[in-house]
Amino acid sequence: MCGIAGYIGPKGADSVLVVALERLKYRGYDSAGLAVLNDGEIHLRRAAGKLKNLAELISAQPLEGHCGIAHTRWATHGAPTEANCHPHVDQGGTVAVVHNGIIENHEHLRRELQAGGVVFQSETDTEVIPQLIGQLYAAGPTKGDALGSLRAAIARLDGSFAFAVLFVDLPNRIFAVRKGSPLLIGMGKTYGADGQIDPVTERVTKHRRREMLLASDVPALLPHATKVCYLDDGQIAELTDQGVNLWTFGGVPVEAQFKVIEMTAEAVTKGSFDSFMAKEIAEQPAVLARLLESRLRGGDLVEPEVGIDLKTVSHVVFLAAGTSWHAAMLGKRFLEQLARIHVEVDISSEYRYRNPVASGNTLVVAISQSGETADTLAGLRLARAKFIPVIGLVNVVTSTIARESNGVLPLLAGPEIGVASTKAYTAQVLALYLFALQVAKAKGLLSSAAEQHAIVSARGLPELVARTLRQAEEAVGEAADIFSSAQATVFLGRGGEHPTALEGALKLKEIAYVHAVGYPAGEFKHGPIALVSPHLPVVCICPHDQMYEKMLSNLQEVRARAGRIISVGLASDQALRDLSDHLFPIESATEELLQPILSILPLQRYAYQVAMRRDCDVDQPRNLAKSVTVE
Ligand code: F6R
Repeated sequence: MCGIAGYIGPKGADSVLVVALERLKYRGYDSAGLAVLNDGEIHLRRAAGKLKNLAELISAQPLEGHCGIAHTRWATHGAPTEANCHPHVDQGGTVAVVHNGIIENHEHLRRELQAGGVVFQSETDTEVIPQLIGQLYAAGPTKGDALGSLRAAIARLDGSFAFAVLFVDLPNRIFAVRKGSPLLIGMGKTYGADGQIDPVTERVTKHRRREMLLASDVPALLPHATKVCYLDDGQIAELTDQGVNLWTFGGVPVEAQFKVIEMTAEAVTKGSFDSFMAKEIAEQPAVLARLLESRLRGGDLVEPEVGIDLKTVSHVVFLAAGTSWHAAMLGKRFLEQLARIHVEVDISSEYRYRNPVASGNTLVVAISQSGETADTLAGLRLARAKFIPVIGLVNVVTSTIARESNGVLPLLAGPEIGVASTKAYTAQVLALYLFALQVAKAKGLLSSAAEQHAIVSARGLPELVARTLRQAEEAVGEAADIFSSAQATVFLGRGGEHPTALEGALKLKEIAYVHAVGYPAGEFKHGPIALVSPHLPVVCICPHDQMYEKMLSNLQEVRARAGRIISVGLASDQALRDLSDHLFPIESATEELLQPILSILPLQRYAYQVAMRRDCDVDQPRNLAKSVTVE
């Protein structure tokens, strides 16, 4: 939660930083601000509300200067007001700070600083950081020593955080600190040389310099940076116009390891789409094809190296949150059916606070699109502390979860920017299916005929996804016209479509703000059926699978009580059509286990269409953030 950016270079820092914040706003978007250093002064611009408010403020009152830090906020402590916007500056006006994470002992530090005469300007936990650093830099043993003041301040802070600091008297210098929240350093072009004309500023320069950037995530470094270095926990970085210096919190110098950035700036723009969510839904055929490409060679399954002997695994625990948890529920079905092993699906925020049993042959699989979800990361660390091996199934392969796992299964879905997870979900489900095949093969349980059937079915999936997206659109639009004003919606599914029901409900809730719940359809008669009325749309997910007849009985029960039925099923299914007010047509998967990948598609589009009709911002739904790096 919250995005941090920083820039040192020949371009105007304010304009570079606003674009960087645009790329980070999926991390939080209730207020934003930046600080630019110029002529020995720190200049601030901050605005409550969406980033466009800050952008408008900056175009009305631009800032001079080539070194700055910026922040987009997801409020934890203090409402999203201008006073609570970052950057926060200390009382003496010496340091400015942007911060991601939570300072757990902020109340204690605030009282201590107040007792010493400091007057706070905000309600945030963050403000204790600049106030503390400002005091340490102004007097005492660390007076005038930026690194020393930072290290002394860090020693007083509890919690998990990343922050960046400008010192008013240190031009072209940004300090950055990481303990628990991600932070990356980007390296751009060198510019200028002794006595030559700088191609960017068109001025004669004295020194060869380097453009340096800082961000919570790679997209915010683009297009300026060509290389990236990931700060590790417990490191301090000093960015200057010559490069970067790194130290551990203990003061030991560390060599910065830069890698070439492979992501392109185009991958993080909307292209011709109205929203990232629409673009990401449409990308699903290509995403699934890419994942298959990486895991299949001709008629064979390629087994990625996960650093674990899968044939010895007899118990798998999936750790995940939100949409990733729904994918995990499908992963359980795949592993049970194909590899016949015992599987638990655990919500990360529950697992981490239990004392889970660690048996010899347990494997934990941490599923996370972002790879930064705090609860899933904590669950991973708990498992590893019990010597349980962990595989990270992540989209962001450079994320903390990827780096701390014993093995990594990448989703290859490309950057997912819309807050609602869509393409990452279907990629997770397919990746879990391929993983289950891999485990089954390692255990000698996958006959070559079964492997061939699985591969042929998986290969056909991208085309079926493309067809389903095309054919469902009209029916989805018609139903959205009718039901966008409904107060609530119920989603029912059985077997593999129970997770689809949960996921369909989550999409509608989070982007259209419609109260929605998903149930295993067999549970419906045990209470929730009391909700049925002529005003309640009930979405029944009803492909031709082994639960089909049972689902038809559920439809009959809803119809008998005058409920409104939207069904998800085959276009050719006349019996289903006759029972439904609306039918969202889907294709039929060759392998039933893969059907939920097709069934969710019209529900993603339905949530999108309802949200549009309710004037909701689908990419930035209220109160949410893409990457949940706080508890
Ligand atoms: C819903 C959604 C969230 C995430 C959850 C976990 O559309 O995106 O529910 O699935 O916050 O995030 P990751 O997968 O990044 O760990």
